[in-house]
Amino acid sequence: WEAIAPVIARINDLKRQKNAIILAHNYMTPEIFACVGDFRGDSLALAREAARTEADLIVQAGVHFMAETSKILAPGKTVLIPSMEAGCSLASSITGADVRLLKERYPGVPVVTYVNTTAEVKAETDICCTSSNAVQVCEHAAREAGTDTVICIPDQFLARNVAAMTDLKIVTWAGACEVHERFTAEDIREIKEGHPGVQILAHPECPPEVLAEADFAGSTGAMNAYVRDKQPRNVVLITECSMSDNVALENPGVDFVRPCNLCPHMKRITLEGILNSLENGVHEVTVDPVIAARAREAVERMIALPD
Ligand code: 13P
Ligand code: SF4
Repeated sequence: WEAIAPVIARINDLKRQKNAIILAHNYMTPEIFACVGDFRGDSLALAREAARTEADLIVQAGVHFMAETSKILAPGKTVLIPSMEAGCSLASSITGADVRLLKERYPGVPVVTYVNTTAEVKAETDICCTSSNAVQVCEHAAREAGTDTVICIPDQFLARNVAAMTDLKIVTWAGACEVHERFTAEDIREIKEGHPGVQILAHPECPPEVLAEADFAGSTGAMNAYVRDKQPRNVVLITECSMSDNVALENPGVDFVRPCNLCPHMKRITLEGILNSLENGVHEVTVDPVIAARAREAVERMIALPD
């Protein structure tokens, strides 16, 4: 604490001086999440905040696609990310050209793209979704297009999990989150055996057989709300490691079982990196204005849907 307290104080000073905010994803380590994050949450909550903030400067404590989403929604603001190498296995699994080919192959079928994608991919999209609204968005897109089929890309597991919850036919892509795809149904059964009565909360980027073993499936924000509202005695969050640290801080009466899968991309964001961003104005995230305008329509259509 002695080593990080001055860094935290300096970051909080610079935020005031520069009219800056830090948008902190639920996977940030607790010293970032709790001590310097101004707005904390899942992808959808952070996107909504980027769209409405009056700050001049946004520092994205998250991965690159999240910073791009902030820039798309707040084109007049400066958006910084502490590491340009904070990528995402889903975002790197597909290109704009891939989406154009899919559209040629399935004419008239609406394209729903997970926010974990580049701006170039979002620009080819009818509407974006996050893990908290994927079912609602796919049903909405099918209704609008008058079809029973939706292209839901690039996460094959999210798409299969949506398909299991709707009557829609879903075309997908071979992308996967390198953190969530590692969980297996066997892991969950072992946790249940070792911790009788434990509540299992799993992220929809996990394989369907993992979700089948879970008591609840939802975005990081939805898992957080579940623990806050239900206060289970014992819980396991089948998602990225730091999430449990952050939720545990706010729920001292809940015991957490903690299998640990780290996201190497999220972990590139550090307190020192955030300080460097604020001191030196690095690394600025820019999006080609033509691409940004097209991508914005897809993200704004999602944000316009009711909560
Ligand atoms: P959510 O926070 O929207 O659930 O997304 C999780 C994720 O893996 C983001 O990278
Ligand atoms: Fe991408 Fe998965 Fe890391 Fe989220 S946790 S940034 S989906 S690799």
